[in-house]
Amino acid sequence: MAGVDPHAGTVVEIGAGSGLVTAAIAAALPGARILAAEPSTVLRSVLTSRVVRDPDLRGRVTVRPDTAQELALPDRISAAVLCGVAGHLDQAERADLWRRLTERMLPGAPLVVELMAVDRPVAMPRTRLATRRVGGQDYEWWFAARPGAGEGDPLVLHSTWRVLDAAGSAVREETETHRWHAFGLERVAAETGWELRDLRGGPGANSAPLGVFTRAS
Ligand SMILES: C[S@@+](CC[C@H](N)C(=O)[O-])C[C@H]1O[C@@H](n2cnc3c(N)ncnc32)[C@H](O)[C@@H]1O
Repeated sequence: MAGVDPHAGTVVEIGAGSGLVTAAIAAALPGARILAAEPSTVLRSVLTSRVVRDPDLRGRVTVRPDTAQELALPDRISAAVLCGVAGHLDQAERADLWRRLTERMLPGAPLVVELMAVDRPVAMPRTRLATRRVGGQDYEWWFAARPGAGEGDPLVLHSTWRVLDAAGSAVREETETHRWHAFGLERVAAETGWELRDLRGGPGANSAPLGVFTRAS
């Protein structure tokens, strides 16, 4: 976000989820107006709750329920952020989004894209990715991925959240299935025609593909 003029335009975050990244953007860009779009009612509730309880966020983050495909973009965009979202769009939907962003992003405005750790069509066996004790219960996040049925079909991702009581018995289990088009940052660079700065391998880097794209002047 270095170099972004927070007063020149709006920062657009698409698929903001629970607002973790939204809060990080706000901290990096004091005073910036942020449009945070999140289509999932559950995640948008968490996002809105995070925004409402912080007077600074409350004054400058606008929460919208729209998908990337539906979102009405502001005329002047100073940065755009898609973390863990671009693979939910097919190629035509991405092309439309990149075109609409290109029309509105100010010169030098960064497009930040993170592609989770699934930038290739690979299978991943059911794996427990996180666990956390909350009160007297344990919460677990399990994840699995398998390639789609046909050549070029998106990956099928399953996330399961389990809640276990003190004796280790499951008291609740929720599973969600999503489709994810697996591609890398180079594909985004080719689709947008923008210059890629690959942030993998930098300080604090994790294994997920993370890049900043800027329009060549
Ligand atoms: C892996 S989560 C990432 C959430 C958040 N960006 C983060 O990094 O914490 C993917 C998010 O994309 C959202 N999403 C799914 N399909 C979408 C679409 N078509 N347009 C916008 N967001 C979408 C989901 O609701 C979810 O919040």
